[in-house]
Amino acid sequence: IHSDAKLKDPFTLAQKDLNHLYDDIKKELFVSKSELKSICDYYFDGKGKAFRPMIVVLMARACNSHSNRDGDLLPGQRSIAMISEMIHTASLVHDDVIDGSDKRRGKTTINEVWGERKAILAGDFILSAASMALARIGNNTVVSVLSQVTEDLVRGEFMQLGSKENEKERFKHYLDKTFKKTASLIANSCKAVSILVNSDPEVHEIAFQYGRNVGIAFQLVDDVLDFTACASQLGKPSATDLKLGLATGPVLFACQQSEGVDQTNYLAQHYCQEAIRQISLLRPSLERDALIRLTQMVLTRDK
Ligand code: FPP
Ligand code: FPP
Ligand code: MG
Ligand code: MG
Repeated sequence: IHSDAKLKDPFTLAQKDLNHLYDDIKKELFVSKSELKSICDYYFDGKGKAFRPMIVVLMARACNSHSNRDGDLLPGQRSIAMISEMIHTASLVHDDVIDGSDKRRGKTTINEVWGERKAILAGDFILSAASMALARIGNNTVVSVLSQVTEDLVRGEFMQLGSKENEKERFKHYLDKTFKKTASLIANSCKAVSILVNSDPEVHEIAFQYGRNVGIAFQLVDDVLDFTACASQLGKPSATDLKLGLATGPVLFACQQSEGVDQTNYLAQHYCQEAIRQISLLRPSLERDALIRLTQMVLTRDK
C-alpha cells in the first residue's frame, strides 16, 4: 500500500484538501448579486493551476507529520491555502492592468471585458476579502507574515517598472525582484502553516526556505518559457517580457556572453536542489516526499 501511495503525484495527494477551494473562495467574496460579484468570481472557475494552495496543503501536512500530529489539516491551515490563491489572483488582476494583457488562464482578462477601473477595484476587493479571512484565523504572527507578502508583491512589481542600477547590480536586482514578485507568497504561506502547528523557529525557517527556493526556481523556469514556448502552449501571450522591455534571466545571462537560456535553467536547478535539501530536514511523510517530487517537476515542465 505504501509504495502505491508513494507513486501518487503531488496533485493527486493534495486533491482531497482542495476539493472545496473555489467554493470557499466564492463564499469569502460574498456580495449580493452585483456586477462586482461576477467580476470577482471570474477567475475562480477552476482553470488556474492552483499551485500555491497545493504546495500549502502539502507543506501543512508535512509539518503536521513532523510534529506528530496526524489527522486533518487545522482550519487555519486550510484558510491559508485559500488566502494564498486569493492574494495571487488579486495580484494577477492588477498585473494584467499594468501589463495591458488581454488573456489570462485562457480567458479574456477582466480589464479587457470590464475595463481597467473596474479591474483595479475588483483586485482590491479580492485582497480585502483575503485580509478578512486572514484576520479570522486569529493569529497575529500569521497576519503579519502574510501581510509581508502584499508589501513584497508591490515592491517587486515596482522594481520591475525599472531602476537605474548598474550592470553589476542587475542580476542581484533581478533575483531580489523575483523573490518579491513570485517567491514571497509561497515562502510566507508555507511559513504560516508551519507556525500554526509548531512553535519551533527552525521548522518555520525550513518551510520558508523551501517555498523561497522553489518559488524562485519556478519564476526562472517561467522566464525561460516566456522565451522558448508559444502562446497556445502557455494559455497566455509569450515573449511578453521582451515586448515590455524587461530583462529577465535569459537576457541578463546572454549579456554576460553566456548561453542565457541554459544558464537560467542551470540556476533554477541550483534553487531546486536547495529546496530539496531544506524540505528533507523534516521527518519523512508522503507529503514531504511529494514536495520533493514537485521540485523535480519544476525543472521539466514545458508550460
Ligand atoms: C501566474 O501564476 C504567473 C506568475 C505569478 C509568474 C510566474 C509564477 C509561476 C510560474 C508559478 C509560481 C510558483 C510557485 C512555487 C507556486 P501561475 O503561473 O501560477 O498562474 P495560474 O494561477 O493562472 O495558474
Ligand atoms: C505576474 O507577473 C504578477 C505578479 C506575480 C505580481 C503582481 C503584483 C502586483 C500587480 C502588485 C499588487 C498586488 C496585490 C496583492 C493587489 P508577470 O506579469 O511576469 O506574469 P504573467 O505572464 O502571468 O502576466
Ligand atoms: Mg503580466
Ligand atoms: Mg507583470
